[in-house]
Amino acid sequence: MINIDRMTMEDVEQVLLLERTCFGEGWTSTPFDRELSREDCSYFLAKENNNLIGYSGSWLILEELHVIIMAVHPDYRRKKIGQKLLIELINDGLKNNAKWVTLEVKVTNMEAQKLYEKFGFSVKGRRKNYYQQDRQDALIMWTEDIGTPEYQEKLSTIENELMRV
Ligand SMILES: CC(C)(COP(=O)(O)OP(=O)(O)OC[C@H]1O[C@@H](n2cnc3c(N)ncnc32)[C@H](O)[C@@H]1OP(=O)(O)O)[C@@H](O)C(=O)NCCC(=O)NCCS
Repeated sequence: MINIDRMTMEDVEQVLLLERTCFGEGWTSTPFDRELSREDCSYFLAKENNNLIGYSGSWLILEELHVIIMAVHPDYRRKKIGQKLLIELINDGLKNNAKWVTLEVKVTNMEAQKLYEKFGFSVKGRRKNYYQQDRQDALIMWTEDIGTPEYQEKLSTIENELMRV
């Protein structure tokens, strides 16, 4: 059974380990002590039997929800956990009056791009040499207005699909 819960300070050690597993040694660890105390930040964790298998995080800037992190343990990918984490972030953003969701993703990261496309994100821009580790460009992706009936229907369809697995 997979549960999605809000991250707390008690989870930090486990999340830092997962972060290193997912992004490698050169990754700059997220400063969770600072992030978790901010009202505009949200982090969610996916756990199976209390074992951490994924996490996601966002910042709310006015009406824009910025997805800043999203990762699933390599052994648990393609099991729809990424979708569950993203839906939680978007629903949380909606509760806090977000109107659009945006993020950056590596040009070569097709898995993540496919996940985001499923949620209606499309490419609106590009940042050259954005990633410190390998100097890859970032694609800037945005959703349409997440408050419209059309977008709500898209979310419901995904949610219904997820309830069946
Ligand atoms: C991107 C990531 C979070 C996706 O997590 P996940 O739990 O495997 O994703 P899901 O199972 O929910 O898949 C969602 C959709 O994304 C697409 N997708 C995900 N992995 C894919 C792959 N390897 N090949 C093709 N499509 C893929 C599919 O459309 C999939 O939907 P479907 O299974 O209904 O066809 C995961 O691959 C990951 O942690 N990658 C490393 C960290 C990373 O790149 N994070 C994103 C930074 S922007």
